[in-house]
Amino acid sequence: MSNETLFQEALTHFPGGVSSPVRAFRAVGGTPKFFKKASGAWFEDEDGARFLDLCMSWGPLILGHAHADILAAVSEAMQEGLTFGAPSRRELSLARRIKEMVPFIEKMRFVSSGTEAVMSALRAARGFTGRDRILKFEGCYHGHSDGLLVKAGSGLATFGAPTSAGVPKGIAELTSVVTLDDMDTLERTFAEIGGQLAAAIIEPIPANNGLLLQRPEFLKRLRELCTQHGVVLIFDEVISGFRVAPGGAAERLGITPDMATYGKIIGGGMPVGLYGGRKDIMGVVAPDGPVYQAGTLSGNPVAMAAGLATMEKLTPAFYAGLEANAEKWAAAFEAIPGLHCPRYGSLLWPLFQDSVRRSDAVKGEAIGSFNRLHKAMLAQGVYLPPSGYEVAFLSAAHGDAELARFKQAAAAVAKDF
Ligand SMILES: Cc1ncc(COP(=O)(O)O)c(C=O)c1O
Repeated sequence: MSNETLFQEALTHFPGGVSSPVRAFRAVGGTPKFFKKASGAWFEDEDGARFLDLCMSWGPLILGHAHADILAAVSEAMQEGLTFGAPSRRELSLARRIKEMVPFIEKMRFVSSGTEAVMSALRAARGFTGRDRILKFEGCYHGHSDGLLVKAGSGLATFGAPTSAGVPKGIAELTSVVTLDDMDTLERTFAEIGGQLAAAIIEPIPANNGLLLQRPEFLKRLRELCTQHGVVLIFDEVISGFRVAPGGAAERLGITPDMATYGKIIGGGMPVGLYGGRKDIMGVVAPDGPVYQAGTLSGNPVAMAAGLATMEKLTPAFYAGLEANAEKWAAAFEAIPGLHCPRYGSLLWPLFQDSVRRSDAVKGEAIGSFNRLHKAMLAQGVYLPPSGYEVAFLSAAHGDAELARFKQAAAAVAKDF
């Protein structure tokens, strides 16, 4: 069956024809590709066309699609059982590896998605501090739990307002929202409500509204303010964790949060999330403490095997190689007229304006140009993330042949920009 036929049927089953909204291609227009199979940096759609993938399932596939060692680890684990709902040794192997890479994770809990990791970390922070309010930053995404689908209300440090229907006002009001890079508002918010905040959560490398790279002073000041006011600082490293360095953004920035959340790469392509950090904070989590959090499939043995097979490859040399390669890809993007490519590690943001630090600085025309680029590159067999607010993800499978192919496609579309 063709993409088009499948999509028409999908529309009868799923809202927007998809299992997650951005996949619907509403931002860029056209019919979403139905992936048939994928390997390395490439996938084939249901029409039999081959594409160079620069979205890579939104980040988990740092080694590329269907890496042989991950497949082998998964099939070995599978033979021993798909789920136990009981402790199993692979959880410990992955936990050990995580602690080697991120020393400030003293205790952790596996869950099944990034959303769940963040939601649970916030509950632990609330249980630990006995406070209800939290702080987030406009331009950061932390999954779709109620308290995080929130934008700033009117006025300084006031109650947040829901950004999604279905989020109770009373829950949104417990979240305060500060604009990224806005040091004055950050200071004033802590002065006003610092003592009421359980947690401040931030993507240290904000990568969900484009790549809004922050000044290190901003993040350092946030760390200081949290310490001063007894607020749990949570780094949401669902994207940056194990992608930008062995110890993620915390290591690269030299800032240690109290807790961190992970997902994507630690599952190697299987559904895994993780929250963890200081052992005194994690001590409140059930059954040790009064904060309840559980999961039927948490620590799933097959997912643990995929995660471990991935994480074993992530050495300092691996990151150095990926970084050097990513620089070449950013330059290749920038060969397209008018395009700048803010980059951090192997995260790239094709942007038709100069780089920005806050979400309200992204121009509508820049997104319009990206939408045209998306369509033009797709016609050349290159699959960019289907929204101008999303970053492109590179993997170890994006080698010289892929780069050459990308350059060829970019040269073919350049005249239109
Ligand atoms: C920084 C960040 N936090 C949380 C999430 C939510 O993760 P998931 O989609 O696995 O629920 C995402 C998803 O992209 C993310 O980028």
